[in-house]
Amino acid sequence: MADTALADVAVRPVVYNEDVIKKFTIASMFWAVVAFLAGVYIATELCWPGFNLGLSFLNFGRLRPVHTSAAIFAFGGNALFATSLYVVQRTCRARLVGPDALHDFIFWGYQFFIVMAALSYVMGYSRGQEYSEPEWHITLFLVLVWVLYAAVYIGTLLKRQEPHIYVANWFYLAFILTVAILVLVNNAALPVSFFAAKGYVAYSGVQNAMVQWWYGHNAVGFFLTAAFLGMMYYFIPKQANRPVYSYRLSIVHFWSLIFLYMWAGPHHLHYTSLPDWTQTLGMAFSVMLWMPSWGGMINGLMTLSGAWDKLRTDPALRFSVTAVGFYGMSTFEGPLMSIREVNSLSHYTDWTVGHVHSGALGWVAFISFGAIYYLVPALWKRSSLYSTKLVAWHYWVATLGIVFYISAMWVAGIMQGLMWRAYDRFGFLQYSFSESVNAVHPYYVIRMLGGLMFLIGGLIMCYNLIKTVRSPSTEPRGAVLPAGLAVAGE
Ligand code: HEM
Ligand code: HEM
Repeated sequence: MADTALADVAVRPVVYNEDVIKKFTIASMFWAVVAFLAGVYIATELCWPGFNLGLSFLNFGRLRPVHTSAAIFAFGGNALFATSLYVVQRTCRARLVGPDALHDFIFWGYQFFIVMAALSYVMGYSRGQEYSEPEWHITLFLVLVWVLYAAVYIGTLLKRQEPHIYVANWFYLAFILTVAILVLVNNAALPVSFFAAKGYVAYSGVQNAMVQWWYGHNAVGFFLTAAFLGMMYYFIPKQANRPVYSYRLSIVHFWSLIFLYMWAGPHHLHYTSLPDWTQTLGMAFSVMLWMPSWGGMINGLMTLSGAWDKLRTDPALRFSVTAVGFYGMSTFEGPLMSIREVNSLSHYTDWTVGHVHSGALGWVAFISFGAIYYLVPALWKRSSLYSTKLVAWHYWVATLGIVFYISAMWVAGIMQGLMWRAYDRFGFLQYSFSESVNAVHPYYVIRMLGGLMFLIGGLIMCYNLIKTVRSPSTEPRGAVLPAGLAVAGE
């Protein structure tokens, strides 16, 4: 049972739909570059505000949601569409349900949603709720695309030839269903009029804050965590050519994670007008989350038992394994930051931004890079990547970039927190706010340089993948296979 991910080897050929997966993979890389570029640009603006050139659409406030949405929903989202649709076909040994036109609609519809959202932000339209900025008509369109995606995914699961549903699908399914519920509840709003790009949020005051961070934290839990765990549970066994270390542990990991995440949202609202007991509840569930998170990390890492030597020869696997390490690190830091006394220091500071990016760069981006390096040769039928040396370069440049980024944010964040709470002997604040802004400037420059390295790594990856796709196919000559034909478990 443990080796279902590998068990799809050499059974009977199935005609998979790989066209749409190729499109999502290309889109993911394209948006990765856009997101990293926007990240570096806003990081530069935080060092030297003059970089907004006095143009409203280049303002930090407008470009920040372009960066966060491009990184999470465009880069991460497209990687999740690509891998989930790949994994569900392989592990169920079934072709995607529905006509190709439907899959194309899901692909182009999602890209349209991204472009509309980004355009609306730079034009100054926003609901002002983090990670949930698009106005109602754009969200409504997303709901349509999402429902179709869910239908294709669930439909494929239902017509599977495998009796068993491999654990990666559990994680992807939780992601698809939960994101639908989160978006619907958090976006409940009353449009001003049918044509107006403005709606009034259905909740007010502290209820609105509570719903927003129930959404926000579960976006972290189900979009940035559960879904990428689906990637981990399929691609690491594939890359290491080993079964998952413990299938039982993966099921415990799944159920405990999805149960606990739902309650942790209030840790974003410590010391606010939210009732105290709610804050304590959020804190308690966040601390408990540490256990399943580390259980999952151990499961991912132990899958390499007996295959650690592969790390020397396969730099793509290095990405996936390092990602699991960062997953462990950010899920240790998160519960720590959710403790109220710690949060009183970390909240509002760059420590939070450091935590976010150890998860975002180290976990989300790295696990996606590992999967994409695996997928591209598999989808385009190439025996290997154009250059493993370039993968190694990417790995080291990006890893160093992350180290610069997150260590600069930790130092800046803790320094800010300590400066804001320092009193002199007369009981006055010791530092003015502008002094704390001055103090973090060097660390912002280091963060910007770290981000630039991460971007350069992304560009190296794009070059390597384009060269891989352009290299001659390794398919046997004369064997004319219908488009999208692949042998299961390749
Ligand atoms: C056990 C797991 C985790 C827990 C308990 C946790 C907890 C926390 C806490 C306490 C904060 C700070 C809230 C504040 O002071 O405003 C936070 C912020 C954040 N965390 Fe985590 N974290 C976890 C894992 C992760 C992971 C794996 C990611 C992935 C990328 C992540 C992404 C974020 C984001 C994006 C924010 C910033 C939210 C915002 O204010 O915009 N977290 N987390
Ligand atoms: C080249 C790489 C990157 C750079 C230079 C970068 C830079 C930045 C900057 C400057 C901010 C604003 C911080 C602030 O408001 O003080 C930010 C916020 C954020 N970024 Fe990135 N970023 C990068 C990659 C990513 C990736 C890959 C993801 C997600 C997968 C991501 C997710 C986020 C999130 C969720 C926030 C909001 C954090 C919060 O509210 O606390 N970033 N980033």
